[in-house]
Amino acid sequence: MQAMNIKTDFLVIGSGAAGLSYALKVADFGKVTLVTKGALGESNTSFAQGGISAVTSDPDSFEKHVQDTLICGAGMCNEEVVRMIVREAPRQIEQLVQWGTEFDRNNKGRYDLAREGGHSERRILHHKDATGAEIQRSLMQQAKAHKNIEILEHHFAVDLITQHHLGKMVRRYITDAECYGAYVLNLKTRQVGTFLAKVTVLATGGTGNVYHTTTNPAVATGDGVAMVYRAKGVVENMAYVQFHPTALYTPSERPSFLISEAMRGFGALLRAQDGKEFMQKYDERGPLAPRDIVARAIDNEMKTRGDDFVYLDVTHKNADEIIRHFPNIYKKCLSIGVDITKDFIPVAPAAHYMCGGVRVNMDGLSSIRNLYAIGETSCTGLHGANRLASNSLIEAVVYADKAAQHSLQCMKSIALQEGIPDWDYEGTSHPEEMVLITQSCKEVQQIMSYYVGIVRSNIRLERAFARLGIIYKETEQLYRTSTLTQNLCELRNLIQIGYLIIKEANAMRESRGLHYSIDYPPKKIQA
Ligand code: FAD
Ligand code: SIN
Repeated sequence: MQAMNIKTDFLVIGSGAAGLSYALKVADFGKVTLVTKGALGESNTSFAQGGISAVTSDPDSFEKHVQDTLICGAGMCNEEVVRMIVREAPRQIEQLVQWGTEFDRNNKGRYDLAREGGHSERRILHHKDATGAEIQRSLMQQAKAHKNIEILEHHFAVDLITQHHLGKMVRRYITDAECYGAYVLNLKTRQVGTFLAKVTVLATGGTGNVYHTTTNPAVATGDGVAMVYRAKGVVENMAYVQFHPTALYTPSERPSFLISEAMRGFGALLRAQDGKEFMQKYDERGPLAPRDIVARAIDNEMKTRGDDFVYLDVTHKNADEIIRHFPNIYKKCLSIGVDITKDFIPVAPAAHYMCGGVRVNMDGLSSIRNLYAIGETSCTGLHGANRLASNSLIEAVVYADKAAQHSLQCMKSIALQEGIPDWDYEGTSHPEEMVLITQSCKEVQQIMSYYVGIVRSNIRLERAFARLGIIYKETEQLYRTSTLTQNLCELRNLIQIGYLIIKEANAMRESRGLHYSIDYPPKKIQA
């Protein structure tokens, strides 16, 4: 079967909050082709629970949101970016509302604001405990209705097209690369199409699946970051992997079900298995300390006591209120025999968010010309060394807007590139055994979880690097000789993500934010 080649104005890769809102912003001005590797609703966005942060009323202020973000980011945020996003947030919230997103309101008709770790005020807008699903729903509805947006589900972006594909050399850091689109694998026909675009936008989301335990759905395999790295673009801050402190402890389940931080904002306490509260030992803010501190405290309690989980306890709160605020969490826990109005919830940390990614400027433009990166796949400077809860959905929609404005200005002077060769299928045969891919994937996840997790050390990182190197060589060999499949591409991407995390972690000579090494204890000991 002949591969479908496409020429378009805007190629958007990914259908979460970032990709869909970008597509909606540019669709009145040109043809948008949006590819997504699963069904349209498969994204981290759909899983987001707690909400989206924005300053919407007194006594909150932009300055307080800025300061909370900077404190959480442990000296690594770009303050100009933080200020821009915080100021822009209310406007983008109104845009979401115009697109049909419904946020909960109180009986006075004002937004019902929640609080989460690291926030000094109540500023989290939410839709019960399923805010992401509501945002995803409204954006999908709008995108499907727009005549200029062509949505291609089950289309997997394999690699970016740059001068390299015209036989020219591209050098990293010299930033002379230029993007002409992407090679895209149709997962139904198994053909690879050449998708040429004036502007290409990576909105491919997170990297959680590089770890064994994660809150991220299966689509979060770091494809965008790996593609940019292969195309010699600049990627940064990859050592800062955020582990959410409280994922429901169900070891056989993947992804791990999240117990929202909003529950600690609502008053839930953390208890060791003997029932004793422990967070005050680690931080005066108790269970509402920033996430890195809470996750490390739980990790420490589990390791010291030899336990696999701790408890989250909300039983002292009014049962009706618990169910009203957290209907999905209530239902999920009940399905495993835990009635959260009466029982403690078993929880453990899980890989949750990648603070690093494709380095972009304040317009969302990467180091590769005509290539934008938005949402979790990007590194804007907002999060620094640790993301403040509920700051990522807002970053995604603000940067979708920024990238849209900038690319609309630029696209008029960009011509589609000629002479790009079709995908080269030569020499490819089916992998003899799928186990070669699935087992390697599990090995990568184990290596990353045991050696490059919440607490790291030089020897663990060295060991991880060496082990990953073996899998890298085996997988590159397999990739060269095998038919392209989604699993194989994702394994390759996960290995590259693991490599980048280890490389950057290894280069650090300090503990900061989410990167904590026992060889470089932080100046202020937190336990
Ligand atoms: P995503 O929503 O992940 O979308 C990425 C898209 O790219 C997907 O459609 C995927 O299929 C597609 N894709 C990936 N690779 C390819 C490829 N190679 N080819 C084609 N398509 C591809 N943040 C908050 O601010 N507040 C919260 O309350 C919150 N709660 C969370 C709860 C959970 C359980 C999780 C996992 C995350 C949460 N986050 C929260 C983080 C937030 O959801 C994400 O950072 C944000 O949704 C990312 O949006 P995105 O559009 O960048 O990526
Ligand atoms: C949560 O609801 O705890 C997730 C919030 C976030 O990751 O920002």
